[in-house]
Amino acid sequence: MRIDKFVSDAAAMTRKESRKAIKSGRVSRGDEIVKDISLSVSENERILLDGKEITYKKYVYIMLHKPGGYVSATEDKRQKTVLDLLDPSYARYGLFPVGRLDIDTEGFLLLTNDGDLSHSVISPNKNVGKTYFVRLEKNITDREISLLENGVDIGECITKPAKVKRVSENEINLTITEGKFHQIKRMAKAVENTVIYLKRLAYGEFYLDETLEKGDYRELSDKEVENLCNVYKRK
Ligand code: URA
Repeated sequence: MRIDKFVSDAAAMTRKESRKAIKSGRVSRGDEIVKDISLSVSENERILLDGKEITYKKYVYIMLHKPGGYVSATEDKRQKTVLDLLDPSYARYGLFPVGRLDIDTEGFLLLTNDGDLSHSVISPNKNVGKTYFVRLEKNITDREISLLENGVDIGECITKPAKVKRVSENEINLTITEGKFHQIKRMAKAVENTVIYLKRLAYGEFYLDETLEKGDYRELSDKEVENLCNVYKRK
């Protein structure tokens, strides 16, 4: 890639700013000052701006604790989107949510620009479970729990087998591998109940970091990204 792109991506600059920085001698490759804005460099090269190394990131992975009131989309005419919760410097990465959560659903939302990972995590064929904490309006019986586990009729289909762990008389952790529109709310309806609170806890074995307050986010560590890609991209 051209060095002006490297610098603008790695240092959160506009292309115009990065070209100016290069021309004024603020950028070096290793020990050598670079003034040619069209110089070709690789992603892993040691590039410095004002003497400090800057690293180029192609893919970004963010764990967001989604609060209610935000739509899981990249843009919306009326509502705030989950991207509005991020620092504006992330705008240049073209991030999108990995699977949707309803506007009133809270919890773990991954945001990335890695289309392959996103596909692997949300494709129903890959059978990646998503676990939700579900609070219901009425108590749920063991029989209703086994109906949810075996699959219920939500109109457009019978849901695939799910896993349920009882939390209290009216609360369960429910793991599903599909992501039909309003799936959990419709599953609750199928057993004559209503969801009054919904929070995604995990994608597969990857759980929301509970130290993140609602509306907060953090980039995944290199180790977390490696695990995620190893587990899901190979599925
Ligand atoms: N199921 C729902 O009904 N809503 C969500 O946001 C996620 C799963």
